[in-house]
Order: sequence, then structure tokens, then C-alpha cells
Amino acid sequence: MNRQWWHNKIAYQIYPKSFYDSNGDGIGDLPGIIEKLDYLSYLGVDILWLSPIYQSPLADQGYDISDYYKIDPRFGTMEDMDRLITEAKKRNMYILMDLVVNHCSDEHLWFQKAIQDPEGEYGNFFYLADEGEKKPCNWRSYFGGSVWSPLPGTGKQYLHMFHKKQPDLNWENPRVREEIYKNINWWMEKGLAGFRIDAIINIKKPLPFSDYPADREDGLCSPEVMLANASGIGEFLGEMRDETFAKYQAFTVGEVFNEKPEDLEKFIGENGYFSTMFDFHEAVIGHSPKGAYDNRPVTPEEYKNACFTAQAKIGDTGFYSNLIENHDEPRGVSHYLPGPPCEAAKKMLAGLYFMLRGIPFIYQGQEIGMENTEVSSIEQIDDISARGEYETALKAGLSPEEALAAVSLMSRDNARTPMQWEDSPGAGFTKGTPWLSVNPNYHRIHAADQMEREDSLFQFYRKLIGLRKDSDYGETLVYGSFAPYLKEQKNLMAYFRKGPEKTLLVMGNFQKEPQEAVLPGVAARIVLNNLPHTEIKENKIMLEGWQYVILEVK
Ligand code: GLC
Ligand code: CA
Repeated sequence: MNRQWWHNKIAYQIYPKSFYDSNGDGIGDLPGIIEKLDYLSYLGVDILWLSPIYQSPLADQGYDISDYYKIDPRFGTMEDMDRLITEAKKRNMYILMDLVVNHCSDEHLWFQKAIQDPEGEYGNFFYLADEGEKKPCNWRSYFGGSVWSPLPGTGKQYLHMFHKKQPDLNWENPRVREEIYKNINWWMEKGLAGFRIDAIINIKKPLPFSDYPADREDGLCSPEVMLANASGIGEFLGEMRDETFAKYQAFTVGEVFNEKPEDLEKFIGENGYFSTMFDFHEAVIGHSPKGAYDNRPVTPEEYKNACFTAQAKIGDTGFYSNLIENHDEPRGVSHYLPGPPCEAAKKMLAGLYFMLRGIPFIYQGQEIGMENTEVSSIEQIDDISARGEYETALKAGLSPEEALAAVSLMSRDNARTPMQWEDSPGAGFTKGTPWLSVNPNYHRIHAADQMEREDSLFQFYRKLIGLRKDSDYGETLVYGSFAPYLKEQKNLMAYFRKGPEKTLLVMGNFQKEPQEAVLPGVAARIVLNNLPHTEIKENKIMLEGWQYVILEVK
């Protein structure tokens, strides 16, 4: 494998609206990110991915772009963006923007022109159909309801895989692709390191549109069925790589769900369409086809098996990007750890996913152990996806209380509450009123405490990051192979990372009770431990509840 500049890097996702508000309007902004660059540099992360900051009506919090060449004034100015890129470079950090090109906003000029003249040039930028008796297909949008909505005042309808304010762009039209590549190159010229590529697997539709068997009482079918039936996406993705990213050695990470094993080489192998893509095997555990209200909690065994399946699938074909949370998922520590998460358990989860083969991503606030938030009414929920799921739950017969309880476990607001900087009003995120309520636990969980306290989760993340860059262990942790260990032992997650010179054994006791595990050989050194002590007797290790260790073994 040819070595790339990003192989040993650590990425950090910023959700700008909730990161740091520099001017007291309650909305996080670019100057706020610049102010916190030293914090991020102290943490040790290298690549910063910014969720969208382009001009947008924020119907889906910026994943609905109305001008790809402008910064939304709520986030700052283009000068702020240029300054962020420059200031990041000074600290050897790289900036990724979010590339949202499966769809744009219904307020984008292209869509406005399509409404004015559906038969004209811009009509063909979207998927339009005559508004007949029947919709062209029975696909359900990701946020609930049909993917088809009327194109106002035209007698036509248009397709949206997500919200109706997010019309899908017609990638079959070469003019659309040309506009997209032009925009990507324009941003790359500004000095970006690359992009996180949103919802990209949806750009290829199986055409002509047709119905698939309905899977709920609404008569619609899951959008995943359309993904499974689409073929030929590689032509678009290969063209995009050649026209844009390849020219800049860009780092790109694709948001890809449901990838087929045979696609991995093409997607993220040598000269793949992307540098890497997220491993979502863990994120989808327990998801019900009926809707989020019917999701099940994740067990430690399921979490382990999902990680191991993904690692086996990728082998050394390329690198997955590993994560426990992002702006679309619940907080990892609330989702994957059974019961109220203690700090030792948070460290264990951090250490387990971080040392998997791949590129570790940290989502803002994860490094201080931020948790899911509580809501007492649906009005407090901003997330349009959770609102759609709430409706689905009510239709399925749940009471409003039950629906709210179920939906609050997966609401994307959990990850979007403001970053908890300190124990002061507004959690140090804003001096004004935050756009989304802060999690009331900020008195207990905040960055100021964690940075100061030697045994904090934050300091533990710094150690994890340090190991990947360590001259003794970095090579093994970045390039070493992966192999499961004692896979059948319940609530123990253990694996080897083997390099040409060193072998590391990563172990986590995924329960509050202690458990014993047999070691494969002599432990030469304890490289990392989340607790003050370790008990090793001959060939056995006695792990306390939630204990996590990395051992160098001979
Ligand atoms: C991706 C984003 C999500 C957004 C959706 C539509 O899944 O991560 O936040 O709602 O795409 O753009
Ligand atoms: Ca602001």
C-alpha cells in the first residue's frame, strides 16, 4: 500500500452551530472555531471536518444549501473562512468541508428557476415528473413520507430522498456534474484539505422509476431498497475523483451506508473513489424497519461483533473511518454503554474503537464524554428527522409519551446540544441564549474540568492520540493488521494489532463486574490502562469492571 499523508491522522468533527459562539447571538460561528483552535491542537487532532456552513435556510441545519459559494452570515464571512484555513495551517491542521451534492435547497437559484420554467434548462437539474394520478415510485424519504412533492404551481412534482426542502440533483445530467466539480475545485483552490461527502450513495437512482414491495402500512418502501437496486454509481464517483480530488491529493471521507463487500476495493482501495469511508456497522445495530420507535438497545456483544465484522470485511483493502457518534447519531457513551455511563466506561469505549484499524474520528464533545440530553415535549426537539419519527410512532399506536421517550433516544439533537466548555450559564458556549438548550449536566461535564484533571477522559483521549503518533507504537497502530482475540468470551472485547516488530493486545471489560482473561503469552509492557492498577498473574489478567488495557505482548 502506498503511504498517504492522512494515514496516521486523527480527525475531529465540528458541528459549527453548536461549537462556540463568539458574538453572543446563540449560534456557534467561524470566529468561534478559530478561537478554539488551540484547544483542538492541545487535544492533538489534525483534520477538522466542519458540518455545513454554506448559505442555507437551515431546514436540515445546513444540509440544505442555497448557495455553494457563500458562507451563511450566521456562521461568519468568507474572510473568516479564509482565516480559519490559514490559522489551521499554522498549527499543522487541515480543514475539510462538508460536500452536500445529492441535493440542494429548494431555495437554491437552480430550483427557483426550475419552478419558473420546468421545461427549461434547470428543470433538468432535478428529477421532475408530471403530477399524474400516481407517483412515479413508492419510495419513502429518509425523513418520512413519499419522496415526491408537488413543484409549486407547475402541475409537476419533484423527487427528494430527504426533506421536501432538499430536492435531489439530477446527476444523470452532465451540466449538473460540471457545476458540482467546478464548485469543489473552487474550494480546493482556497486551501481545503478535502471533504466529507454527504449522503453520496444516493446520487445514483435505478431508472426508470418503479415501485418496490411496500414494507409498512403507508404503502411505501424503504429508501434502502432503491439503493440496493441502483447500479453504476462508480461512473459518477470515478469521474468526480478524476475531475477534482485526485488533482489535489485531497482527503475525502464518504458517507456510505450498505456498501457491498465487492465495492470496497473500488470505493476506498488504492486509487479508490474516496480516501476512506465511515464504518456504520455499529451505528445501525438494533434499527427496526418499522421506525426508530421500534429500535432495540445495543448489547456489548453486538457492538463487538459489528466492529469485528467490519474489520474482517475491510482487511487491508483500505481504511475505514471509525467513530462512535456524529451529528446524526446519539452520543456514543449513552448509546453503546449499558446503564448510566461512568468515566472509566467512557474511557474503555474510547480506547476500544480508537485502536481499531482505520482513521479515528472524534465528534465535538465526545472527548469530554458528553451524553444524550433529556426532553419533556416534542416542541423541544429541533431535529426534523426525529419529528418525522415521532409521527411514525404515533401512527403505529404509541401514546405521545411513549413516542417521545422512544424518539428521544435517537434524536439527532442529542449530539447537537451546545459544546460544554465550562460550568457557567450557557455552558461557556454563548453569552446569549443558545439556539438549542444546553444539556443540564454541564455543571458536571465540561472541558475546563477535563483539561485540568489529570485522570479525565479528555486526558485519556490525548494519550490515545499520542499512541498513534508514538515512535514505538504508531506504526503498529496505524498499519498493523487486526485480529480478534477470545471472541467468544462474553462482554470482553479484545483484539491484536500486529506490526512487523510489535504486537499489541487491546482489551476492554465491557461490563461493571470484574472478569478474568487468559493472556496469549508474556505481557512485556502495559502500554495504557484506564484504571490505576492491573492485576496480572502468570498467564491471566484480572480485569476490573470497565477496565481497559493495551499490552505489548511477546
Ligand atoms: C447526511 C447528513 C445528515 C443530513 C442528510 C441529508 O446523512 O449527515 O445530517 O440530514 O445527509 O443531507
Ligand atoms: Ca454567533
